[in-house]
Amino acid sequence: WGDVGHRTVGYLAAKYLSPGAIELYGSLLANDQGFDISDAATWADTIKQKMPWSSPYHYINPVFDDPPNNCNVTWPSDCPEKKGCVVSAIVNYTSIVLDRSSSHIDRKNATMFLLHLIGDLHQPLHVTGYKTGGNDVEPICWNHEPPETGGSCGGRLNLHSVWDTRIPHKLRGLPTSLDNPAEKVAAATWAEDLFARQQRTTAISECDRIDAGAECILGWARESNALVCDAVLARGEDWILSNDLSDEYFEENKHVVDDQIGKAGVRLAAWLNAIAVVAPPDD
Ligand code: ADE
Ligand code: ZN
Ligand code: ZN
Repeated sequence: WGDVGHRTVGYLAAKYLSPGAIELYGSLLANDQGFDISDAATWADTIKQKMPWSSPYHYINPVFDDPPNNCNVTWPSDCPEKKGCVVSAIVNYTSIVLDRSSSHIDRKNATMFLLHLIGDLHQPLHVTGYKTGGNDVEPICWNHEPPETGGSCGGRLNLHSVWDTRIPHKLRGLPTSLDNPAEKVAAATWAEDLFARQQRTTAISECDRIDAGAECILGWARESNALVCDAVLARGEDWILSNDLSDEYFEENKHVVDDQIGKAGVRLAAWLNAIAVVAPPDD
């Protein structure tokens, strides 16, 4: 996701945190620079350049999935042992936060990775290797921007960016890019809307077995991966490359984005709460 998606997952999770979790993560994320939980949730994208080893932690590329006909995640074989992937990264950073003998900075960074990676795991294109997670499905037409003005259709807009930012921003009535304060306002509002709807209707299947290896995380990964077949690529790549995706494609898929961001926030909170039960803050 782009920053707005990650910030929304952070703000939504904050609404479900237990008192123990608020205390633990309040102390781990404490800073004098005015950074809030949504800034912590975007941090992992800001350090990719100086910590390039962390790039593979944002996705998993299942070897045998061939969307839209076959979606599949196999574990652990789909996660390169040396480089890692989003599933192993969440498992490993969970153990670091759980380990009260880890240093403060290690537990802080691990918490920031969890806030971000549980979000990315819910972006369907972060759970498929198809054309580098859709990065190589281009050029995409969007908003009927004419090619001659450098618009997306003749330019380099790809399917991955459509799902990371274009669909979320259009869903929330936002411009393509916005500054940090505007992102925070947009994300806080989105989180409020999701929370209000969740209180009225949706029961989201949580999973908080932090002691069960990759069980919960793999379940979330398989759900995201299935959406690549059932939603993202359901119309086929030829159709995607020959239609403006801001029309029917957007209408068909905007609920998928809204639901996935909503699930990510609830599940992130349940996960962080479970960690705080096992590793309560020092007093
Ligand atoms: N790079 C390689 N595969 C990717 C994916 N599935 N998502 C994002 N970036 C990637
Ligand atoms: Zn992405
Ligand atoms: Zn990311």
